[in-house]
Amino acid sequence: MRFDARRILLIIGGGIAAYKSLDLIRRLQDGGARVRSILTPAARHFVTPLAAGALCGERAYTDLFDAQSEFDVGHIRLARDTDLIVVAPATADLMARMAGGLADDLASAVLLATDKPILLAPAMNPHMWAAKATQRNLAQLAADGVHFVGPARGAMAERGESGLGRMAEPLEIAAAAAALLRVGRALSGKRVLVTSGPTHEPIDPVRFIANRSSGKQGHAIAAAAAAAGADVVLISGPVDLDDPPGTTVVKVETAQDMLAAVERALPADAAIFAAAVADWRVEHSSGSKIKKRQGRPAALALVENPDILATVARRKSGRPQVVIGFAAETEDLIGNAKAKLVAKGCDFIVANDVSAATGIMGGDSNTVHLIGAAGVESWPPLSKDEVAHRLIERLATHLKDAT
Ligand code: C5P
Repeated sequence: MRFDARRILLIIGGGIAAYKSLDLIRRLQDGGARVRSILTPAARHFVTPLAAGALCGERAYTDLFDAQSEFDVGHIRLARDTDLIVVAPATADLMARMAGGLADDLASAVLLATDKPILLAPAMNPHMWAAKATQRNLAQLAADGVHFVGPARGAMAERGESGLGRMAEPLEIAAAAAALLRVGRALSGKRVLVTSGPTHEPIDPVRFIANRSSGKQGHAIAAAAAAAGADVVLISGPVDLDDPPGTTVVKVETAQDMLAAVERALPADAAIFAAAVADWRVEHSSGSKIKKRQGRPAALALVENPDILATVARRKSGRPQVVIGFAAETEDLIGNAKAKLVAKGCDFIVANDVSAATGIMGGDSNTVHLIGAAGVESWPPLSKDEVAHRLIERLATHLKDAT
Protein backbone atom coordinates (compact mmCIF):
# COMPACT_ATOMS: atom_id res chain seq x y z
CA MET A 1 0.00 0.00 0.00
CA ARG A 2 1.64 3.24 -1.14
CA PHE A 3 0.37 6.73 -0.43
CA ASP A 4 3.44 8.63 -1.70
CA ALA A 5 3.05 11.44 0.84
CA ARG A 6 -0.57 12.09 -0.18
CA ARG A 7 -2.62 14.05 2.37
CA ILE A 8 -5.55 12.43 4.13
CA LEU A 9 -7.98 14.20 6.43
CA LEU A 10 -9.45 11.67 8.87
CA ILE A 11 -12.76 12.65 10.44
CA ILE A 12 -13.45 10.57 13.53
CA GLY A 13 -17.15 10.25 14.36
CA GLY A 14 -18.68 9.35 17.70
CA GLY A 15 -18.96 5.60 18.04
CA ILE A 16 -17.21 2.85 19.92
CA ALA A 17 -15.29 1.96 16.72
CA ALA A 18 -13.47 5.30 17.14
CA TYR A 19 -10.74 3.50 19.07
CA LYS A 20 -9.82 1.68 15.85
CA SER A 21 -9.41 5.02 14.09
CA LEU A 22 -6.25 5.64 16.11
CA ASP A 23 -4.84 2.46 14.59
CA LEU A 24 -6.08 3.65 11.17
CA ILE A 25 -3.92 6.77 11.52
CA ARG A 26 -0.90 4.47 11.94
CA ARG A 27 -1.85 2.23 9.00
CA LEU A 28 -2.22 5.25 6.71
CA GLN A 29 1.10 6.63 7.90
CA ASP A 30 2.76 3.22 7.40
CA GLY A 31 1.92 3.60 3.71
CA GLY A 32 3.45 7.09 3.64
CA ALA A 33 0.30 9.24 4.00
CA ARG A 34 0.29 12.56 5.87
CA VAL A 35 -2.72 12.47 8.16
CA ARG A 36 -4.68 15.28 9.78
CA SER A 37 -7.62 14.61 12.08
CA ILE A 38 -10.94 16.13 13.04
CA LEU A 39 -12.92 14.80 16.01
CA THR A 40 -16.65 15.42 16.24
CA PRO A 41 -17.98 16.41 19.68
CA ALA A 42 -19.39 12.86 20.05
CA ALA A 43 -16.04 11.29 19.10
CA ARG A 44 -14.46 13.00 22.10
CA HIS A 45 -16.45 10.70 24.37
CA PHE A 46 -14.50 7.77 22.92
CA VAL A 47 -11.01 9.06 22.01
CA THR A 48 -9.20 12.25 22.92
CA PRO A 49 -7.91 14.99 20.61
CA LEU A 50 -4.61 14.58 22.44
CA ALA A 51 -4.22 10.95 21.33
CA ALA A 52 -5.24 11.64 17.72
CA GLY A 53 -3.05 14.75 17.61
CA ALA A 54 -0.04 12.93 19.04
CA LEU A 55 -0.32 10.20 16.41
CA CYS A 56 -0.81 12.70 13.57
CA GLY A 57 2.02 14.93 14.74
CA GLU A 58 -0.33 17.90 14.46
CA ARG A 59 -3.16 19.03 16.73
CA ALA A 60 -6.53 17.41 16.13
CA TYR A 61 -9.23 19.87 15.03
CA THR A 62 -12.49 19.85 16.93
CA ASP A 63 -14.42 23.08 16.84
CA LEU A 64 -15.92 25.15 14.04
CA PHE A 65 -15.94 28.29 16.14
CA ASP A 66 -12.50 27.86 17.72
CA ALA A 67 -10.62 31.08 16.97
CA GLN A 68 -7.25 29.30 17.21
CA SER A 69 -8.16 26.66 14.56
CA GLU A 70 -9.71 29.23 12.27
CA PHE A 71 -6.59 31.33 12.64
CA ASP A 72 -4.27 28.30 12.01
CA VAL A 73 -5.95 26.76 8.99
CA GLY A 74 -9.68 27.44 8.94
CA HIS A 75 -12.34 24.97 7.93
CA ILE A 76 -12.17 25.80 4.24
CA ARG A 77 -8.46 25.03 4.11
CA LEU A 78 -8.99 21.84 6.09
CA ALA A 79 -11.51 20.87 3.41
CA ARG A 80 -9.26 21.73 0.48
CA ASP A 81 -5.67 21.09 1.64
CA THR A 82 -6.04 17.34 1.39
CA ASP A 83 -6.20 14.69 -1.32
CA LEU A 84 -8.86 12.57 0.34
CA ILE A 85 -11.24 12.75 3.29
CA VAL A 86 -11.86 9.53 5.24
CA VAL A 87 -14.71 9.41 7.75
CA ALA A 88 -14.22 6.55 10.24
CA PRO A 89 -16.37 5.70 12.02
CA ALA A 90 -19.11 7.27 9.91
CA THR A 91 -22.09 7.27 12.25
CA ALA A 92 -25.75 7.31 11.21
CA ASP A 93 -25.87 10.91 12.43
CA LEU A 94 -22.88 12.03 10.35
CA MET A 95 -24.32 10.32 7.27
CA ALA A 96 -27.65 12.08 7.83
CA ARG A 97 -25.91 15.44 8.20
CA MET A 98 -23.97 14.89 4.99
CA ALA A 99 -27.01 13.72 3.05
CA GLY A 100 -28.94 16.77 4.27
CA GLY A 101 -26.10 19.22 3.58
CA LEU A 102 -25.88 20.44 7.19
CA ALA A 103 -22.84 22.44 8.23
CA ASP A 104 -23.26 23.46 11.85
CA ASP A 105 -20.18 21.69 13.22
CA LEU A 106 -16.61 21.41 11.98
CA ALA A 107 -16.85 17.90 10.47
CA SER A 108 -20.09 18.61 8.56
CA ALA A 109 -18.87 22.03 7.39
CA VAL A 110 -15.64 20.51 6.05
CA LEU A 111 -17.52 17.68 4.33
CA LEU A 112 -19.84 20.19 2.67
CA ALA A 113 -17.01 22.54 1.66
CA THR A 114 -14.67 19.97 0.15
CA ASP A 115 -14.08 19.28 -3.51
CA LYS A 116 -12.01 16.17 -2.75
CA PRO A 117 -13.12 12.51 -2.77
CA ILE A 118 -14.78 11.29 0.42
CA LEU A 119 -14.56 7.73 1.77
CA LEU A 120 -16.97 6.67 4.51
CA ALA A 121 -16.44 3.68 6.81
CA PRO A 122 -19.89 3.33 8.39
CA ALA A 123 -20.21 1.85 11.87
CA MET A 124 -23.42 1.57 13.80
CA ASN A 125 -25.90 -0.81 15.36
CA PRO A 126 -27.39 -3.16 12.70
CA HIS A 127 -30.89 -1.77 13.29
CA MET A 128 -29.64 1.77 12.76
CA TRP A 129 -27.88 0.67 9.55
CA ALA A 130 -31.01 -1.10 8.27
CA ALA A 131 -33.30 1.82 9.20
CA LYS A 132 -35.10 3.31 6.22
CA ALA A 133 -33.67 6.77 6.95
CA THR A 134 -30.08 5.47 6.96
CA GLN A 135 -30.62 3.50 3.76
CA ARG A 136 -32.14 6.60 2.15
CA ASN A 137 -29.10 8.62 3.21
CA LEU A 138 -26.76 5.90 1.94
CA ALA A 139 -28.43 5.94 -1.48
CA GLN A 140 -28.29 9.74 -1.58
CA LEU A 141 -24.62 9.84 -0.61
CA ALA A 142 -23.71 7.14 -3.15
CA ALA A 143 -25.57 9.15 -5.81
CA ASP A 144 -23.62 12.23 -4.71
CA GLY A 145 -20.38 10.34 -5.46
CA VAL A 146 -19.37 9.48 -1.89
CA HIS A 147 -17.40 6.21 -1.56
CA PHE A 148 -17.93 3.49 1.01
CA VAL A 149 -15.91 0.75 2.63
CA GLY A 150 -17.94 -1.67 4.73
CA PRO A 151 -19.76 -1.99 7.00
CA ALA A 152 -18.98 -5.61 7.79
CA ARG A 153 -21.11 -8.23 9.46
CA GLY A 154 -20.17 -9.40 12.95
CA ALA A 155 -20.45 -8.86 16.68
CA MET A 156 -21.26 -5.39 18.01
CA ALA A 157 -19.78 -3.80 21.10
CA GLU A 158 -23.18 -4.16 22.80
CA ARG A 159 -23.40 -7.61 24.34
CA GLY A 160 -25.43 -10.06 22.33
CA GLU A 161 -25.88 -7.76 19.33
CA SER A 162 -24.54 -8.80 15.97
CA GLY A 163 -25.25 -8.14 12.31
CA LEU A 164 -24.33 -5.74 9.55
CA GLY A 165 -22.83 -2.58 11.00
CA ARG A 166 -19.27 -3.26 12.18
CA MET A 167 -16.71 -0.82 10.91
CA ALA A 168 -14.32 -2.25 8.29
CA GLU A 169 -10.90 -3.08 9.76
CA PRO A 170 -8.24 -0.32 9.62
CA LEU A 171 -6.17 -2.22 7.03
CA GLU A 172 -9.22 -2.57 4.77
CA ILE A 173 -10.04 1.12 5.12
CA ALA A 174 -6.42 2.00 4.32
CA ALA A 175 -6.52 -0.28 1.23
CA ALA A 176 -9.75 1.38 0.03
CA ALA A 177 -8.20 4.82 0.60
CA ALA A 178 -5.09 3.83 -1.36
CA ALA A 179 -7.20 2.48 -4.22
CA LEU A 180 -9.31 5.62 -4.29
CA LEU A 181 -6.26 7.85 -4.45
CA ARG A 182 -4.82 5.75 -7.28
CA VAL A 183 -7.93 5.42 -9.38
CA GLY A 184 -9.89 8.52 -8.32
CA ARG A 185 -13.03 8.85 -10.42
CA ALA A 186 -11.40 7.26 -13.45
CA LEU A 187 -14.62 5.49 -14.49
CA SER A 188 -16.93 8.41 -14.00
CA GLY A 189 -19.47 8.57 -16.83
CA LYS A 190 -18.81 4.93 -17.76
CA ARG A 191 -21.36 2.14 -17.48
CA VAL A 192 -19.96 -1.15 -16.24
CA LEU A 193 -21.81 -4.47 -16.17
CA VAL A 194 -20.63 -7.20 -13.81
CA THR A 195 -21.89 -10.77 -13.40
CA SER A 196 -21.25 -12.58 -10.12
CA GLY A 197 -22.08 -15.69 -8.12
CA PRO A 198 -23.20 -19.13 -9.23
CA THR A 199 -26.34 -19.96 -11.15
CA HIS A 200 -28.93 -22.43 -9.90
CA GLU A 201 -30.39 -24.75 -12.52
CA PRO A 202 -33.62 -26.38 -11.35
CA ILE A 203 -34.08 -30.14 -11.40
CA ASP A 204 -37.51 -29.95 -9.82
CA PRO A 205 -39.17 -27.43 -7.47
CA VAL A 206 -36.87 -28.36 -4.57
CA ARG A 207 -33.59 -29.43 -6.18
CA PHE A 208 -31.07 -27.67 -8.34
CA ILE A 209 -27.58 -27.95 -9.87
CA ALA A 210 -25.15 -25.37 -8.48
CA ASN A 211 -21.46 -24.78 -7.77
CA ARG A 212 -19.26 -23.45 -4.97
CA SER A 213 -18.91 -19.85 -6.17
CA SER A 214 -19.48 -17.39 -3.31
CA GLY A 215 -19.73 -14.28 -5.51
CA LYS A 216 -17.13 -12.51 -3.36
CA GLN A 217 -14.81 -11.67 -6.26
CA GLY A 218 -17.58 -10.44 -8.58
CA HIS A 219 -19.20 -8.36 -5.84
CA ALA A 220 -15.81 -6.84 -4.94
CA ILE A 221 -15.33 -5.89 -8.61
CA ALA A 222 -18.74 -4.23 -8.73
CA ALA A 223 -17.92 -2.29 -5.54
CA ALA A 224 -14.52 -1.22 -6.90
CA ALA A 225 -16.06 -0.07 -10.20
CA ALA A 226 -18.66 1.97 -8.29
CA ALA A 227 -15.90 3.43 -6.11
CA ALA A 228 -14.14 4.55 -9.31
CA GLY A 229 -17.28 6.47 -10.27
CA ALA A 230 -18.85 4.01 -12.74
CA ASP A 231 -22.55 3.46 -13.14
CA VAL A 232 -22.59 -0.23 -12.19
CA VAL A 233 -25.17 -2.93 -12.90
CA LEU A 234 -24.37 -6.10 -10.96
CA ILE A 235 -26.20 -9.18 -12.21
CA SER A 236 -25.89 -11.79 -9.53
CA GLY A 237 -26.86 -15.40 -9.08
CA PRO A 238 -27.94 -16.58 -5.60
CA VAL A 239 -25.30 -15.46 -3.05
CA ASP A 240 -25.15 -14.80 0.66
CA LEU A 241 -23.66 -11.32 0.28
CA ASP A 242 -24.92 -7.79 0.79
CA ASP A 243 -25.48 -5.58 -2.25
CA PRO A 244 -22.39 -3.41 -2.79
CA PRO A 245 -23.28 0.23 -2.05
CA GLY A 246 -23.82 2.47 -5.04
CA THR A 247 -24.60 -0.34 -7.52
CA THR A 248 -27.82 -1.48 -9.17
CA VAL A 249 -28.24 -5.17 -8.38
CA VAL A 250 -30.33 -7.51 -10.53
CA LYS A 251 -30.87 -10.90 -8.87
CA VAL A 252 -31.26 -13.97 -11.06
CA GLU A 253 -31.32 -17.76 -10.60
CA THR A 254 -30.49 -19.50 -13.85
CA ALA A 255 -28.01 -18.99 -16.70
CA GLN A 256 -30.86 -18.21 -19.07
CA ASP A 257 -32.18 -15.53 -16.67
CA MET A 258 -28.65 -14.15 -16.34
CA LEU A 259 -28.24 -13.85 -20.11
CA ALA A 260 -31.59 -12.08 -20.42
CA ALA A 261 -30.68 -9.67 -17.59
CA VAL A 262 -27.27 -8.98 -19.16
CA GLU A 263 -28.85 -8.21 -22.52
CA ARG A 264 -31.37 -5.90 -20.86
CA ALA A 265 -28.54 -4.08 -19.07
CA LEU A 266 -26.63 -3.36 -22.30
CA PRO A 267 -25.27 -1.08 -23.70
CA ALA A 268 -22.27 -0.73 -21.42
CA ASP A 269 -18.73 0.56 -21.82
CA ALA A 270 -17.28 -2.51 -20.14
CA ALA A 271 -18.53 -5.93 -19.06
CA ILE A 272 -16.83 -8.18 -16.53
CA PHE A 273 -18.06 -11.76 -16.34
CA ALA A 274 -17.10 -13.08 -12.94
CA ALA A 275 -20.11 -15.37 -12.49
CA ALA A 276 -19.59 -19.12 -12.33
CA VAL A 277 -22.36 -19.94 -14.76
CA ALA A 278 -23.50 -23.57 -14.81
CA ASP A 279 -22.47 -25.14 -18.09
CA TRP A 280 -25.53 -27.35 -18.26
CA ARG A 281 -29.13 -27.29 -17.21
CA VAL A 282 -31.66 -30.07 -16.93
CA GLU A 283 -33.44 -30.36 -20.25
CA HIS A 284 -36.90 -30.81 -18.79
CA SER A 285 -37.02 -29.74 -15.17
CA SER A 286 -39.96 -31.33 -13.42
CA GLY A 287 -42.89 -29.23 -12.27
CA SER A 288 -43.38 -31.52 -9.28
CA LYS A 289 -40.91 -33.15 -6.89
CA ILE A 290 -39.27 -36.20 -8.48
CA LYS A 291 -40.07 -39.28 -6.37
CA LYS A 292 -37.48 -41.79 -5.25
CA ARG A 293 -38.18 -45.03 -7.08
CA GLN A 294 -36.97 -48.38 -5.85
CA GLY A 295 -33.53 -49.24 -7.25
CA ARG A 296 -33.67 -46.83 -10.17
CA PRO A 297 -32.41 -43.25 -9.76
CA ALA A 298 -34.01 -40.74 -12.10
CA ALA A 299 -31.79 -40.04 -15.13
CA LEU A 300 -31.29 -36.37 -15.85
CA ALA A 301 -30.85 -35.31 -19.46
CA LEU A 302 -28.67 -32.18 -19.58
CA VAL A 303 -28.45 -29.51 -22.25
CA GLU A 304 -25.82 -26.84 -22.59
CA ASN A 305 -26.49 -23.36 -21.25
CA PRO A 306 -25.86 -20.29 -23.37
CA ASP A 307 -22.33 -18.89 -22.95
CA ILE A 308 -23.12 -15.38 -21.73
CA LEU A 309 -19.59 -14.06 -22.06
CA ALA A 310 -19.12 -15.37 -25.60
CA THR A 311 -22.58 -14.14 -26.64
CA VAL A 312 -21.75 -10.59 -25.51
CA ALA A 313 -18.13 -10.59 -26.70
CA ARG A 314 -19.20 -11.70 -30.18
CA ARG A 315 -22.00 -9.17 -30.64
CA LYS A 316 -21.75 -7.41 -33.97
CA SER A 317 -23.33 -4.23 -32.65
CA GLY A 318 -23.48 -2.92 -29.13
CA ARG A 319 -20.45 -4.89 -27.92
CA PRO A 320 -18.99 -3.27 -24.80
CA GLN A 321 -15.64 -1.67 -25.56
CA VAL A 322 -13.89 -3.93 -23.06
CA VAL A 323 -15.06 -7.47 -22.25
CA ILE A 324 -13.33 -9.34 -19.43
CA GLY A 325 -13.87 -13.00 -18.56
CA PHE A 326 -12.65 -15.29 -15.81
CA ALA A 327 -11.10 -18.72 -16.12
CA ALA A 328 -11.26 -20.87 -13.03
CA GLU A 329 -9.10 -23.89 -13.74
CA THR A 330 -7.64 -26.80 -11.83
CA GLU A 331 -4.95 -27.71 -14.39
CA ASP A 332 -2.84 -26.05 -17.12
CA LEU A 333 -4.14 -22.69 -15.92
CA ILE A 334 -2.40 -20.39 -18.40
CA GLY A 335 -2.83 -22.69 -21.41
CA ASN A 336 -6.54 -23.14 -20.79
CA ALA A 337 -7.04 -19.45 -20.07
CA LYS A 338 -5.29 -18.37 -23.29
CA ALA A 339 -7.45 -20.77 -25.25
CA LYS A 340 -10.53 -19.32 -23.56
CA LEU A 341 -9.49 -15.75 -24.47
CA VAL A 342 -9.53 -16.71 -28.14
CA ALA A 343 -12.51 -19.06 -28.04
CA LYS A 344 -14.76 -16.57 -26.30
CA GLY A 345 -13.53 -13.45 -28.10
CA CYS A 346 -12.94 -11.35 -24.98
CA ASP A 347 -10.23 -8.74 -24.40
CA PHE A 348 -8.87 -10.05 -21.10
CA ILE A 349 -9.12 -13.20 -19.05
CA VAL A 350 -8.51 -13.24 -15.32
CA ALA A 351 -7.18 -16.74 -14.66
CA ASN A 352 -7.16 -18.38 -11.26
CA ASP A 353 -6.29 -21.79 -9.97
CA VAL A 354 -9.28 -23.11 -8.06
CA SER A 355 -7.89 -26.50 -6.99
CA ALA A 356 -9.30 -27.29 -3.55
CA ALA A 357 -5.86 -26.75 -1.94
CA THR A 358 -5.81 -23.05 -2.94
CA GLY A 359 -8.91 -22.24 -0.85
CA ILE A 360 -9.88 -19.60 -3.44
CA MET A 361 -13.46 -20.79 -3.93
CA GLY A 362 -15.34 -19.15 -1.07
CA GLY A 363 -12.15 -17.71 0.46
CA ASP A 364 -11.12 -14.07 0.81
CA SER A 365 -7.91 -14.04 -1.20
CA ASN A 366 -6.99 -14.79 -4.77
CA THR A 367 -3.88 -15.36 -6.89
CA VAL A 368 -4.60 -14.42 -10.48
CA HIS A 369 -2.99 -13.89 -13.86
CA LEU A 370 -4.30 -11.23 -16.20
CA ILE A 371 -4.13 -12.47 -19.77
CA GLY A 372 -4.63 -10.17 -22.74
CA ALA A 373 -3.37 -9.68 -26.27
CA ALA A 374 -0.13 -8.27 -24.83
CA GLY A 375 0.66 -11.37 -22.78
CA VAL A 376 0.40 -12.70 -19.24
CA GLU A 377 0.73 -10.60 -16.09
CA SER A 378 0.99 -12.60 -12.86
CA TRP A 379 -0.21 -10.79 -9.76
CA PRO A 380 0.95 -11.70 -6.24
CA PRO A 381 -1.53 -13.26 -3.78
CA LEU A 382 -3.98 -10.48 -2.93
CA SER A 383 -7.27 -10.04 -1.13
CA LYS A 384 -10.28 -10.27 -3.44
CA ASP A 385 -10.86 -6.54 -2.78
CA GLU A 386 -7.34 -5.72 -3.89
CA VAL A 387 -7.69 -7.90 -7.03
CA ALA A 388 -10.89 -5.97 -7.78
CA HIS A 389 -9.23 -2.57 -7.36
CA ARG A 390 -6.29 -3.55 -9.57
CA LEU A 391 -8.57 -4.91 -12.24
CA ILE A 392 -10.63 -1.72 -12.23
CA GLU A 393 -7.43 0.31 -12.47
CA ARG A 394 -6.39 -1.70 -15.53
CA LEU A 395 -9.85 -1.33 -17.03
CA ALA A 396 -9.73 2.45 -16.54
CA THR A 397 -6.34 2.67 -18.27
CA HIS A 398 -7.53 0.49 -21.11
CA LEU A 399 -10.69 2.53 -21.64
CA LYS A 400 -8.67 5.75 -21.57
CA ASP A 401 -6.05 4.45 -24.03
CA ALA A 402 -8.76 3.28 -26.38
CA THR A 403 -10.47 6.69 -26.58
O1 C5P B 1 -15.97 -21.78 -19.99
P1 C5P B 1 -15.81 -21.31 -18.59
O2 C5P B 1 -17.03 -21.52 -17.76
O3 C5P B 1 -14.59 -21.75 -17.89
O4 C5P B 1 -15.61 -19.73 -18.80
C1 C5P B 1 -15.50 -18.89 -17.76
C2 C5P B 1 -15.90 -17.49 -18.17
O5 C5P B 1 -17.03 -17.50 -19.03
C3 C5P B 1 -16.30 -16.67 -16.98
O6 C5P B 1 -15.99 -15.33 -17.25
C4 C5P B 1 -17.81 -16.89 -16.92
O7 C5P B 1 -18.47 -15.82 -16.26
C5 C5P B 1 -18.18 -16.94 -18.39
N1 C5P B 1 -19.30 -17.82 -18.70
C6 C5P B 1 -20.50 -17.29 -19.13
N2 C5P B 1 -21.54 -18.11 -19.47
C7 C5P B 1 -21.40 -19.45 -19.41
C8 C5P B 1 -20.21 -20.02 -18.99
C9 C5P B 1 -19.18 -19.18 -18.63
O8 C5P B 1 -20.62 -16.05 -19.16
N3 C5P B 1 -22.41 -20.23 -19.75
